[in-house]
Amino acid sequence: MAPESFSESIIEKEASYLLGTYQRMPAVFVRGEGVYLFDFEGNAYLDLLSGISVNLLGYGYKPLKEAIHAEVERVIHTSNLFYNVPQVELAEKLVRHSGFLRVFFVNSGAEANEVALKMARFYGKRKHGKRYAYLAFRRSFHGRTLLTLGITGQEKFHKDLGPFPPGIFFGDLNDIESVEKALTDEICAIIVEPVQGEGGIYPCTLEFLVALRRICDERDILLIFDEVQCGMGRIGTLFAFQHFGVRPDIVTLAKGLGGGLPIGAVLVNEKIVEITHRGDHGSTFGGNPVAARSACVIVDTVSQEEFLSSVRKKGEFLRECLESLRSSFPGKVKEIRGLGLMWGLEVPKRAKEVAEKMFMRKVLVNACNEDVVRLLPPLVISEADLYRGIEILREVLADL
Ligand SMILES: Cc1ncc(COP(=O)(O)O)c(C=O)c1O
Repeated sequence: MAPESFSESIIEKEASYLLGTYQRMPAVFVRGEGVYLFDFEGNAYLDLLSGISVNLLGYGYKPLKEAIHAEVERVIHTSNLFYNVPQVELAEKLVRHSGFLRVFFVNSGAEANEVALKMARFYGKRKHGKRYAYLAFRRSFHGRTLLTLGITGQEKFHKDLGPFPPGIFFGDLNDIESVEKALTDEICAIIVEPVQGEGGIYPCTLEFLVALRRICDERDILLIFDEVQCGMGRIGTLFAFQHFGVRPDIVTLAKGLGGGLPIGAVLVNEKIVEITHRGDHGSTFGGNPVAARSACVIVDTVSQEEFLSSVRKKGEFLRECLESLRSSFPGKVKEIRGLGLMWGLEVPKRAKEVAEKMFMRKVLVNACNEDVVRLLPPLVISEADLYRGIEILREVLADL
């Protein structure tokens, strides 16, 4: 039977030509404006997901488009055998705003974590001779390469893939005793998401991060914050570590950094700078001029105090709305968790159903596992649009 619409024809072709790894919602988006995405047939969807924490400034943000166009006109790629202007300018901005010493650019979150873990091993071997192991946390998510999956603390991601590299240990988030128990002399780094994302939106407590910092200082273990999902303004500070006031040794960034173009970054302190040699790492595309230019606009915009305070204010508004949903539906919403504009709604066993019903009502959210519905709206969303999305969520919860 012939497809009924252009969108259907694309969905059919996808099944014929792409390797079937994704479980997608049946929408083919061809345009975006503000916090709305439009399919070919002209239907508007309210986006409460930002391409999974990517489109921080929504869609069609003029200064971002203009900066990208201008860079495309100049040169789109040169490789890291040479220097390029946007990459150096972006590094300067990140160093200035973070207080870290140096930056390494990559293309994705998994790659940023790979680099951080590789740097930690260099440190462990070059400084301590025999350290190579990692401590990560249950429920974490750090990427889809074999090493980042290995340190991901969720069994569903390990199925049919082991054995993973040796020397990976796990603790429980916000349980410092579990960390002390899991520590060995071989551990070179502890890696943690300040707010666990894919695992179901679990923020770290301040006490936990302070204790991790103390343990790492006492043993000269590196502390890595994976801010791929929770960084870049998402929780109301440019970097998540600034919210907690706990400074790690390495920060990994991606997703929102490029505002929609693929770029990741690894921020490192003097410990890493001191042991790094030319040739230790490289990337063909990392810090590509077009992606780096896009990221320059993102950093300039999101780092402004006015912008960040608006995120915090809208975050508080969203928290109140979700709290009201939880009290309206105590049997259906078990808990809400989050910070800033990063929230999870625990609806035991029904997250997929909620996400699908929201989609039918043209609001984009996602089920990060079978229990948790995740909200990661563009940081530029208005309170009116947030409210609209929440009211639709209210209807969906009432219908469950
Ligand atoms: C905390 C965290 N780290 C790493 C990654 C992997 O990023 P990417 O998909 O860009 O490789 C993700 C992706 O969801 C993430 O949420």
